Amino acid sequence: MLNSLSQIPTQPDLTSEVFAVSRLQKETLNGHKAITLWLTGLSASGKSTIARLLEEQLHYQGIRTIILDGDNTRLGINKDLDFSPAGRTENIRRVAEIAKLMNDAGIVTIACFISPMIADRQMAKQIIGEHSFFEVFIDAPLSVCMERDPKGLYKKAVAGAVKDFTGITAPYEAPTNADIRIETTVHNSTESANELLTWIQANKLL
Ligand code: ADX
Repeated sequence: MLNSLSQIPTQPDLTSEVFAVSRLQKETLNGHKAITLWLTGLSASGKSTIARLLEEQLHYQGIRTIILDGDNTRLGINKDLDFSPAGRTENIRRVAEIAKLMNDAGIVTIACFISPMIADRQMAKQIIGEHSFFEVFIDAPLSVCMERDPKGLYKKAVAGAVKDFTGITAPYEAPTNADIRIETTVHNSTESANELLTWIQANKLL
């Protein structure tokens, strides 16, 4: 299993093709820029709920979007990956590559992944491009996430029935300089999504 970008072999026999229609032309056609909003946070912190509400608002404003969500991608393209450190790194590498392709197609990408390691989030930023990547820290204390426990996974993890569970038996490295931090214990999910939307608009990200 690969566990860092430096372990990926170089491909001397491949050359990157450049096609006729650029990303900028696609963004111009869409009428907005393509960026990746990278939502990181503990399981049950509110990432997917905020993503759903934000996407609805963007969609009604005519903005082309996609949500990449850990549970969904792990049921599909990443079904071969576990929650070991190497499995998580490869998970983030692949979804970052997908986010980059989506951005290249002119689509605003909302990525919801625990992505617990700072180094893995840096790798995602490197893959996606530092001007297209915005780190959004969905911040809720572990105690609150454990109380919410919508999927019953914290209970299972404490009982030892799920291994390598983030916050219980696996680490979460909180962002130290996220582009924006949303505290989901202070605001409900609608307010949190609005806070994110207001920030996107105020900073003219799209
Ligand atoms: S990540 O750490 O590799 O970024 P990802 O966001 O894709 O994780 O998947 C997290 C989701 O998988 C959680 O929301 C939870 O529903 C589920 N899950 C299952 N097992 C684990 C585990 N051991 N640790 C964390 N999440 C898990």
